[in-house]
Amino acid sequence: MTSPRTDNPQQIAVIGTGYVGLVTAAGFAELGNEVWCVDIDADKIDRLNRGEIPIYEPGLAECVARNTDRLHFSTELAPALEHARLLFVAVGTPPTYSGDADLSAVNAVVDAMPATDRHALVMKSTVPVGTGATIKREFARQGKGFAYVSCPEFLKEGAALEDFLEPDRVVVGDDGDWAGQAVCDLYAPLGAPLVRTDVPSAEMVKLASNAFLATKISFINEIANVCEETGADVAEVARGMGLDRRIGGHFLRPGIGFGGSCFPKDVSALKQLAGNSGYHFQLLTAVIEVNELQKRRVISKLQKHLGSLVGRHVALLGLAFKAETDDMREASSLVLAARLQADGASVSAYDPVATDEARKLMRGVDFHADPLSAADGADAVILVTEWSEFASLDWQAVRERMTGTLLVDGRNFADRDAVRVAGLVYEGIGRS
Ligand SMILES: NC(=O)c1ccc[n+]([C@@H]2O[C@H](COP(=O)([O-])OP(=O)(O)OC[C@H]3O[C@@H](n4cnc5c(N)ncnc54)[C@H](O)[C@@H]3O)[C@@H](O)[C@H]2O)c1
Repeated sequence: MTSPRTDNPQQIAVIGTGYVGLVTAAGFAELGNEVWCVDIDADKIDRLNRGEIPIYEPGLAECVARNTDRLHFSTELAPALEHARLLFVAVGTPPTYSGDADLSAVNAVVDAMPATDRHALVMKSTVPVGTGATIKREFARQGKGFAYVSCPEFLKEGAALEDFLEPDRVVVGDDGDWAGQAVCDLYAPLGAPLVRTDVPSAEMVKLASNAFLATKISFINEIANVCEETGADVAEVARGMGLDRRIGGHFLRPGIGFGGSCFPKDVSALKQLAGNSGYHFQLLTAVIEVNELQKRRVISKLQKHLGSLVGRHVALLGLAFKAETDDMREASSLVLAARLQADGASVSAYDPVATDEARKLMRGVDFHADPLSAADGADAVILVTEWSEFASLDWQAVRERMTGTLLVDGRNFADRDAVRVAGLVYEGIGRS
């Protein structure tokens, strides 16, 4: 991918250097801008200053290294405020117990801003509709002349840098002032379709997009479940549906439910937002419920073949919520491992990059450095994440290491025929 270059380099700031912030900073630096990055996590900033990349994201380390002269990392806000007028906010907005978005990190950033009228906050964090209006009121109350722009982020972990450099669209919600225009100018070299709108509509584009994608996943998962009852093959069904341009083939892959740091929390935040505004969003309630049940259906598949799981040994291949990331937030593997253990099974696991993260979140799981040793002595293997290395797995070798013969393909990813030729019993999602 050859990156475009800006002919009008700017100095900008990015507050929060996690998955979104670091990719945004590296992406804008790649375009030729100078980026002042701020994070409250001193350890993360130290690592970044040593040239270490705290997360796994393809191409990110190389991009940061290429642009090291234009990237500055600090725990201090002052240098960012001195050099940049646009301050992109990319701090976390995790779910609260009620399912609403927790805005405490966003509010901390707002409170940390000085009284100045030459800066703008550009919100990349995913926030409920109405947050921009509240922040603008708060700025006015605190006597801070900050401008405000909503610029939601749509990148996919695993292809985040690519998505930054070749976005399907850029959404900018603003009050028609200098800041909105400055954000549009910054993105202009990418040549992406621009949706310039008001702040609440920009906020809603983000939530509605994620809710729609999650709905598509839960929909095809339910179709898969009906396929299992009726003898249809969901892979054929999805192919036939996806070729209809009104439907499209993306996000029509059935599996063991969506996870990650965005879909579960954003769907729940939109549902809560609707509820708080007096509207019961019935469809999203079903989307969430279908997703939870989907994660657990794997257990019934195991029981169908093995009976009771007490004393059984199950190997999980892949732990991250999807391939090409080390992100374990809301990963289906967490639910699976906990359910298996609760039902009396022992669990071994392998993931190419997420094991360090997984160790912090999973108890009593036996982690391995390769898929074959994870499969050692297993009654069943579950393919949890669609890592490309599993596509070429030697199923004969897996079979030889196992005690049992069951493979549950939670992503319909393995070559069914190769699995069967190896002497394994193949159980996919929505396929007879
Ligand atoms: N991860 C994704 O795929 C993705 C995609 C689109 C949008 N988003 C949204 O972007 C936002 C960030 O997500 P993420 O996955 O990058 O989160 P993250 O947890 O990876 O990173 C957040 C960073 O913000 C830092 N931080 C917290 N409070 C701070 C403060 N007061 N000042 C400076 N830094 C602070 C944290 O230390 C952390 O490094 C969320 O709202 C998320 O919903 C995420």
